[in-house]
Amino acid sequence: MIILGIETSCDETSVAILENEKVLSNIVLSQIDIHKKFGGVVPEVAARHHLLNLPIIYEKALKEAKINPNQIGAVAVTYGPGLIGALLVGLSFAKGLSLRYDIPLIGVNHIIGHVYANYIAYPHLKPPFIVLMVSGGHTEILKVDEKKIEVLGKTVDDAAGEAFDKVARILGLGYPGGPEIEKVSKNGNPNRFNFPRPMLDSPDYNFSFSGLKTSVLYTVQKLKDNIPTADIAASFQEAVVDVLLKKTFKAARNNGINKIVLAGGVAANSRLRQKAKSLGEKFNYEILIPPLEFCTDNAAMIAMAGYHKYLKGEINTLELEAVPNLKINS
Ligand code: KG4
Ligand code: ZN
Repeated sequence: MIILGIETSCDETSVAILENEKVLSNIVLSQIDIHKKFGGVVPEVAARHHLLNLPIIYEKALKEAKINPNQIGAVAVTYGPGLIGALLVGLSFAKGLSLRYDIPLIGVNHIIGHVYANYIAYPHLKPPFIVLMVSGGHTEILKVDEKKIEVLGKTVDDAAGEAFDKVARILGLGYPGGPEIEKVSKNGNPNRFNFPRPMLDSPDYNFSFSGLKTSVLYTVQKLKDNIPTADIAASFQEAVVDVLLKKTFKAARNNGINKIVLAGGVAANSRLRQKAKSLGEKFNYEILIPPLEFCTDNAAMIAMAGYHKYLKGEINTLELEAVPNLKINS
């Protein structure tokens, strides 16, 4: 079974081809350099670039996988959540392929796609497991079992990735902020500033990052000219990682689940990966984290999620619409 995946929900144009669970190609074209000068993603610009580049990326993916389009058995595409114009480009392209080659169309929730990135590295992964889903738009703790995905907790304000991006801007670092903060943190002291760990001891599994961001802002304003960027970045990163992992481990413990899976762009963060692994060893939890290239947006994870839907007979009609604020259980 050959499955083609398409991802255009934000600022990455990506097409991947899988043969069952094996990735034959996964081409990702990032628009970061285009949006950098605006300090964030400009939706209209993103959609236009998807439109320009998707046919080229599609050809590249076919070529690298050494597949001709007649061999494709199904097409999986992100239909939400994301930017409406960007989503529509991928969805229309997928519908065209479905019609032209008479193959099933499978709509994939982008967030579920991030979870399925783990099946690329661990094809034998079996529920139940707890997911820490951390990206630019989402921060959620999910409980996955054979039948359903339950949202145990989520951010009440900014997403973790968004906090990284905003703090990077406060510190005058580039966009996207996550990788920049990670880079400068390597030379910083994570214990120099004791930034707040919001909602750490609340009984739920929710997060809040906007107060932490404001605390960094006040610290920077107070220090005026002499700003120890590396120490602030490292202390901020430590606070985020601390809250994310404490809550995730609490969710795993309270639900009697000993497998924890990381997903989403922020799961590329080396401090988060390292601390998750060491806490896992200490408290005896199995920790699964996708390889770096499958943490940030890519079509291989969409194809993988689509393949699993296909196996369950969950296919869509050409009526499928893009849903910018798509929820996990819809
Ligand atoms: O999953 P993703 O590629 O796109 C969304 O679906 O949002 O996540 C992008 C987010 C951005 O906020 C970016 O700053 C963050 O992931 N990110 C990181 C790292 N790499 C990407 N955050 C912290 N450390 C990183 N190494
Ligand atoms: Zn994403």
